[in-house]
Amino acid sequence: MISNPSWDKQTGLDNDHEGVVLLKIRDFVYHKSGLYFAKNKLDSFKKRLSIRVEILELNSFEEYYFYLQNSPLGESELQHMFDCLTSIETCFFRDIPQLNVFQGQVLMDLMNLKTQKGQNSLRIFSCGCATGEEPYTLAIIMLEKLGHNIDQWQIEIMGGDISSTALEVAQKGIYNQYSLRNSSKDIVNRYFTPVDDGNYSIKEHVRKMVHFSYLNLKDESIMGTMHSIDVIFCRNVLIYFSEEYKKTVVSQFYDINTPGGYLLIGPSESLFGLNRSYKLLLCPGALVYKKQT
Ligand SMILES: C[S@@+](CC[C@H](N)C(=O)[O-])C[C@H]1O[C@@H](n2cnc3c(N)ncnc32)[C@H](O)[C@@H]1O
Repeated sequence: MISNPSWDKQTGLDNDHEGVVLLKIRDFVYHKSGLYFAKNKLDSFKKRLSIRVEILELNSFEEYYFYLQNSPLGESELQHMFDCLTSIETCFFRDIPQLNVFQGQVLMDLMNLKTQKGQNSLRIFSCGCATGEEPYTLAIIMLEKLGHNIDQWQIEIMGGDISSTALEVAQKGIYNQYSLRNSSKDIVNRYFTPVDDGNYSIKEHVRKMVHFSYLNLKDESIMGTMHSIDVIFCRNVLIYFSEEYKKTVVSQFYDINTPGGYLLIGPSESLFGLNRSYKLLLCPGALVYKKQT
């Protein structure tokens, strides 16, 4: 039995049979992924799910719900469903003010802290990395900042996402010009190789710095294996979750963050009312949260 969060009851959808089934699928999606479709998002939810119903040649949402729960292919269908329901909008060097804070204050502070402790490792986690532009951007920033000294550091950059289609793109590392719209010519020349059709492939030394793996934040068995992360980027992901589930995610982040570590979220997100542990730092144009040392 799936437990409902405080679902809105005035959707209009619960008046007919199809509406009731859609609400059940909505609860199911929430239970499996944390993705939350509020009243004003239900039309788009229905439209996106219709694509899967059509592809599977099913006759109704009811058949689809049954398929999800009972078919031997139900588990793999979940992947396709998440792909349909999430938006993977991203680009290289998205949100320059925040990246400036990362490159300056955040890295400086962490490197000082590590050096004082006699450590040389830095673990960075791009959570909800979509097609990989965000973690590759972080790798490029590290290369730019550390130059030849990069060899003195053990840098691990991890990218995780619930969309396996997005992760396939990330692993290939080939991007069009639109993905590079915020990147200077100089950066493109140094870190990408032109390939066919005006696309660009990320250079091997950058690709090697980033490891991608499937991640469903709702899956505690995956989240439970994560630890000692110095910087968590979770930008433009929390917006898809209910307030209740956001609290759970933020407290998971707190647990896996190293003392003195950082959490960076998107410009339209805030931990207001969700967290009492992280300290908000006032940085120009960026929301930056720090775990106490
Ligand atoms: C709009 S993109 C953000 C990409 C990148 N962080 C950025 O800001 O440019 C949101 C990403 O969150 C992922 N996502 C949504 N729910 C998730 C979950 N439960 N676990 C992991 N990733 C999730 C989506 O698949 C999507 O790729």
